[in-house]
Amino acid sequence: MRKIRLLGDPVLRKKAKEVSQIDEYVLNLVKEMFEVMYANDGIGLAAPQLGVSLRIIVMDDGKPRVMINPQIVYKSEEKIVGEEGCLSVPEIFENVERSKEVIVKYRDENNVEREEKFVDYSARIVQHEYDHLDGILFVDLIPAERRAAIREKLLDIVKRSVHQR
Ligand code: NI
Repeated sequence: MRKIRLLGDPVLRKKAKEVSQIDEYVLNLVKEMFEVMYANDGIGLAAPQLGVSLRIIVMDDGKPRVMINPQIVYKSEEKIVGEEGCLSVPEIFENVERSKEVIVKYRDENNVEREEKFVDYSARIVQHEYDHLDGILFVDLIPAERRAAIREKLLDIVKRSVHQR
């Protein structure tokens, strides 16, 4: 199984590329993403977290979904704050402000174009995973004073990421 890339790994900071074709490679990657996500009790995973800079998300908010080339076409003005964590930033949990509702356009694993509305917890997962495709991590979005408070823990993860590469 591919390893989960950790904070400090440059692949997590790249803007991921669009998937041009949903082929065997992409479908195998998606399968592996689900395996890694479930093995680590995750609820979402983005391809860059496995070292692959492609715009693919998997999530399971009670219903497993694959989103290929997702686009957030609507974000509500109304925001809500909730706790987030990330398999690439282990053992860190911080409050993040997100839109309460989003509408996402994406292709599923069968190459069917879908548009779906997500609210609350599910909208939070989508926004978190979508950010990974643009090289954004949830710890980038927390207040500076919280980031300062967890600075040592973040540096430890960066050190681990160096050893992992
Ligand atoms: Ni994450």
